[in-house]
This record gives sequence, structure tokens and C-alpha cells, in this order.
Amino acid sequence: MEIDIKVLDNIIKETVAVIESSKEQIYHIAESALLECQRVEAEINQIKNQVAVVIKQVSQLEVAERKARIRLMEVSKDFHRFAENDIKEAYEQAQLIQLKLVMLREEEKTLRFKRDHLELSLKRMRDTAERAEKLVSQVGMALQFLSNDLSGLSQKLGNLHDMQQLGISIIRAQEEERKRVAREIHDGPAQSMANIVMRAEFCLKLLEINPGLVRGELLSLQQLVRQSLQDVRKIIFDLRPMVLDDLGLVPAIKRYLEDYKTQNNMQVEFVLMGKEQRFDTSLEVAAFRIIQEALTNVKKHAHARHVVIKMELIPKRINVYIKDDGCGFCMETQKPRRDGSGGYGLLGMKERIQLLKGGLTISSAPGKGTEVNFWLPLNDLS
Ligand SMILES: Nc1ncnc2c1ncn2[C@@H]1O[C@H](COP(=O)(O)OP(=O)(O)OP(=O)(O)O)[C@@H](O)[C@H]1O
Ligand SMILES: [Mg+2]
Repeated sequence: MEIDIKVLDNIIKETVAVIESSKEQIYHIAESALLECQRVEAEINQIKNQVAVVIKQVSQLEVAERKARIRLMEVSKDFHRFAENDIKEAYEQAQLIQLKLVMLREEEKTLRFKRDHLELSLKRMRDTAERAEKLVSQVGMALQFLSNDLSGLSQKLGNLHDMQQLGISIIRAQEEERKRVAREIHDGPAQSMANIVMRAEFCLKLLEINPGLVRGELLSLQQLVRQSLQDVRKIIFDLRPMVLDDLGLVPAIKRYLEDYKTQNNMQVEFVLMGKEQRFDTSLEVAAFRIIQEALTNVKKHAHARHVVIKMELIPKRINVYIKDDGCGFCMETQKPRRDGSGGYGLLGMKERIQLLKGGLTISSAPGKGTEVNFWLPLNDLS
């Protein structure tokens, strides 16, 4: 399955947006819980004040009640001194005060009950506000994780996706290479060998008919076998030059250039700067393949008279420069051909260099020749 990075990014973005709005909502809850706490606190304070006032009133009334009772006792004891009216008045006064007292005590009770109730809900409200605040900070953390780490994840998946694409094109390039080798064997050694068998049969017949001609025929047969042997050696060398494993990059390039010179009517110049040494196998193979591809392109496409290969071995880095004075080409329009008939050479170069974390620049223009520059980082083998 192909990972669609855009879809993944959208999912993460949407999730972040949803959490962001939840965070806001929770924030509002915390906010209104706090406001509610303040309101309830104010109400409680008000009730406390009321209770204080009522308590004061109650104690004042208690004093008044005591007085009224004493007065009532006095008037009711002393019939002679006080009139019936006075007694009635004192009695009513005492009763009124008692009634007020009962009412005030009732009010005090109600206020206390209300206060206790409000204090309980204040406590609950504070809990809610606290929990909402905690949630806001937790959601904030989740958001941070989502927007930082997960956006990193989509990048990582993106890289993975690139690697997958790279793997696919490497496999394709390998398949191309196999096709090329098969074609070379089919057109070269396989044809020659069929020819050799036919000629050998002809020699056998000739031996019976005209033995004098056999010698000449055998000589040309020998020539054909030599040629096929050379073809086979070349194919083997192209597949994997043993000298590359045995002696290293520079000898392998030198050996390759010897053949290259004899096969192509071209001036070939090789300049080496720095000390010859062994490198990591993967680097030696990559550098060799890139140079080989660049030179094959010169042979196939450039119609050049002169090609220069410069190799610079400096600490931690190998620089290679290949320049021909051929026809050049337009870099922008260059793409692998869709029919699979080729055009993978430059792509393969780029991929090898990317894998080894090096760099490549190709500059070319029609009629101006081509310059291939690449560098690869060196790992110390010593
Ligand atoms: N040195 C060069 N001089 C002129 N043209 C070049 C040179 N190198 C590359 N090209 C042009 O760039 C094209 C792409 O090169 P590339 O190596 O990718 O493919 P190819 O050589 O055509 O096929 P393949 O390498 O897969 O066998 C070539 O077809 C050719 O037109
Ligand atoms: Mg090529």
C-alpha cells in the first residue's frame, strides 16, 4: 500500500483542530466555574453578614425579652399600683418580643442552612475549576505532542516513502541492467558461438572434400573464438570487474580506460590527484559504476573527440570530474524513456550518490559538451 502523506497530514491537522476547540471549550468551563465560584463566595459573604446582623438582633431582643418578662412579673405582682391596662400592655409587649425572637431565630436557622449549602456547592465548583484547569494543561500537552512529534512522524513517513520509491527505481535499474547483459550475450557471444558451431561443421565437411582449405578456415575460426572470448571477458568485466575487488578503484578505472581507449576512437585523459588507497566496497563499486555510466554515455551519445577524467582523493572525500567535448544535451528535457528502452543511466547515478550522501552536478548544453561532477564522502578504513 502506498502511504499517502497528504492524507495523513490532513488527519493530523483535523485532529489538532478538534483538540484545539475542545481545549477552548474546557478553558471556558474552567473560566465560568471560576466566575461561579466568585459569585457564590460573594453570596456566602453576604449571608454571613446577614447572619451576623440577625445574631445581633437576636441578642438585643433577648435582652428586651428579659426586660419585658421582668416588667410583666412586676406589673402582675403589684395589682394595686398598676392598672389592668398596664398589665395588658406589658403582657402584649412581652408576647410581641417573643414572637419577633422566634421569627428571628427561624431566619437565623434558614440563613445558616443556606450558607452551609452554598459552602458545599462552592467546594464542588472549586473542584470542577481545578479539574478543568488540569485538563486544559493536559490537552495542551497532547496538542504539543500532536503538532510537534506527529508532524515529525509524517515527515518520517515521507522519508520512508521516498526510500520506497528509491528502492523501486533501484530494482528497475537492476532489471534494466539484466536486460542489457542478456541482450549483449544474445547479440555477441551467443551469436558467435552458433557461428562457430556452424563453421566447425563446415571444417569437418571441408576436411573430406578439400583438406587444403581447412587451415585457412580454422584460422578464421580461431579469430572468431578469440573475439568471442574478448566479448565474454568484457561482459564479465562490465558485470563486476574483479580487479575492483582485488586491487581497488583506481586500478579498476585504469583497466577500464585501457579497454575504452582501444574500443573508441577518442583521446582519453586520466588525472589522479591524491594518494591511491582502498575505500569501502560500496563506495568503490558506486564510484566505478558512476564513472562507467558517464563514459558509456560519452561513447553512446556525445560523439566526442576528447574526454578527461579527473579524480581527486582528499581526506574524507572523493571528487570526480568527467568532461567531454561532444554534442551535449538539454538537461531539462531529459527523462527515463517510458518504454523501458533506457534513459536510466543518469537516474542510477543520482540514486547511487544519494544513497551514499554525496553530491552530483551535471552541466551540459547542446553543442557545448558535457561535464559530470560528483563527490562522495569517505569513511576511514584505516
Ligand atoms: N555525455 C553526453 N553527451 C551527450 N548526451 C548525453 C550525454 N550523457 C547523456 N546524454 C543524453 O542524456 C540522455 C540520458 O542519459 P542516460 O544515461 O540517462 O540514458 P541512456 O544512456 O539513453 O540510456 P541508459 O543509460 O539507460 O542505457 C541520453 O539519452 C543522451 O541523450
Ligand atoms: Mg546512459
